[in-house]
Amino acid sequence: MQNTGKILIIHGPNLNLLGEREPQIYGNFSLEEINQELLKEASQNQLDLKIVQSNHEGEIVETIQNARNWANIIIINPAAYTHTSIAIRDALAAVQLPTIEVHLSNIHARESFRQTSYISLVATGQVIGFGKYSYILALKAAELLLQNGK
Ligand code: DQA
Repeated sequence: MQNTGKILIIHGPNLNLLGEREPQIYGNFSLEEINQELLKEASQNQLDLKIVQSNHEGEIVETIQNARNWANIIIINPAAYTHTSIAIRDALAAVQLPTIEVHLSNIHARESFRQTSYISLVATGQVIGFGKYSYILALKAAELLLQNGK
C-alpha cells in the first residue's frame, strides 16, 4: 500500500555550497542535485516534500515551529548548528514531530567538536556518513515511520 505523508527537509548553513565546498569531505554534487533525487523518490512514493535551506539559526527555528501545523516528519541536516544550537534542539522538542538527523560525513570520525550533537538528544534517529545517500536513506526511514503510523 502506498503512503501519503508530508515531510519537511531542512538543510542548514553552508550546504548551499555543496559541490564547491570541501568536495573531498562532502562530495562533488550540488544541493540542487540532492533535492532533485529526493523529489523524484518522494513522487514515486506519494510523499509531499517541502525543502528549505537556510544559513540563519532563527530562520531554521521558525521553519521548525511552523511545521507543527502541517508536517508529519522532519528530516534535518543542521550542519554546523548540530554542534552549537540549543535553540534548534528546543524547537524540535517543542513541535514533537518525529525527526531524522542527517549528515553527509561521519561526524564521529572527524574533529572532536563535531562529535557532540545537540540534535540527536531529540531526534528519532540519525543517518550519517553516506554522502548524499544519507538523505535518500533518511527519506526511506521517514517512509517506514509513516507506514508504521508515526
Ligand atoms: C555536516 C557535518 C557538520 O559538522 C558540518 O558543520 C556541516 C555538514 C555533514 O553533513 O556532514 O556543515 O552536517
